[in-house]
Amino acid sequence: MKYNALRPRRLRISAPVRSMVRENHLSVSDLIYPIFVVPGSHVKEEIPSLPGCYHLSVDKAVETARLAVSLGIPAIEVFGLPGYKDETGSSAWDPKSPVQRAMEAIKKELPGLVIVGDVCLCQYTSHGHCGKLCGHYVDNDATLPLLARTAVSQAAAGADIIAPSDMMDGRIAAIRTALDEKGFQNVSIMSYAVKYASAFYGPFRDAANSAPQFGNRRQYQMDPANSREAMKEISLDLDEGADIIMIKPAMTYLDIVRQARDRIDRPIAVYNVSGEYAMVKAAAQNGWIDEKRIVLESLLSMKRAGADIIITYHALDVARWLSEKDCLTF
Ligand code: PBG
Repeated sequence: MKYNALRPRRLRISAPVRSMVRENHLSVSDLIYPIFVVPGSHVKEEIPSLPGCYHLSVDKAVETARLAVSLGIPAIEVFGLPGYKDETGSSAWDPKSPVQRAMEAIKKELPGLVIVGDVCLCQYTSHGHCGKLCGHYVDNDATLPLLARTAVSQAAAGADIIAPSDMMDGRIAAIRTALDEKGFQNVSIMSYAVKYASAFYGPFRDAANSAPQFGNRRQYQMDPANSREAMKEISLDLDEGADIIMIKPAMTYLDIVRQARDRIDRPIAVYNVSGEYAMVKAAAQNGWIDEKRIVLESLLSMKRAGADIIITYHALDVARWLSEKDCLTF
């Protein structure tokens, strides 16, 4: 064959040709939009560390959910700032807490929207750790029933998918058993199977008022240096009954997504977390980057790595951009 007989540039010659040979696609149906609900009514306050995202009272959360549906987004994930906190995080399973009330109201008005419930205790405990304390140690097995109780209360309020983000061992089995016992066999579990102890959660902790009051989360979240351990976490959670596994954060852990994709045949979600979002927003506000292109390229890279689902604060913008004609002119 002549040295220049194969010319890869032929298939890059025009936008229609590029679109025909494009290997991966970003679609609005890939997206989950996270929201933060707070007590009160008529509250819609921009979160300083997450520009473009808001603290929403239940009525405003319903409005936002309506907007997400109108843009074709299939799912939202609900996080909450409760009215009270205590040692065990009991507002996490209080049916009158903002999360449960928001789920009920959204399910009633928008039954077709998939509701994902984040199950963790750090937003609800006075000490900001993700479970029940024994001294300064988070007691794994004493935390499991509290997580299970939270999951059941969210399912009762209308959650379609339970997403435990606490990183206790054995929580998928505990939650699955509790859901089944209460008749919620059709509620899925999307496990934060691989959740690293990451500095990229900083803006979220400001937004959710959930930073630990002492120490850090390294006794339960994973060491960023490890990948074999990630595969172990995934197989444990699948054995315990997880329907979808999640890897978090996204952009700095795409190697983990690829390894997981090559090994498992279950759906994979990634969480494009608060620090990833805040960095893009800050650079865009300074005029240093093209926000739309940076975001679309970043999310597409998650699909290329093997993700099926992307949880992202950019979801509303992405849904709008994807509906524009010729949006993906890479
Ligand atoms: C609760 C939780 C956290 C995030 C999702 N669920 C914070 C944490 O573990 O400290 C982070 C999400 C984000 O940064 O966008 N455990």
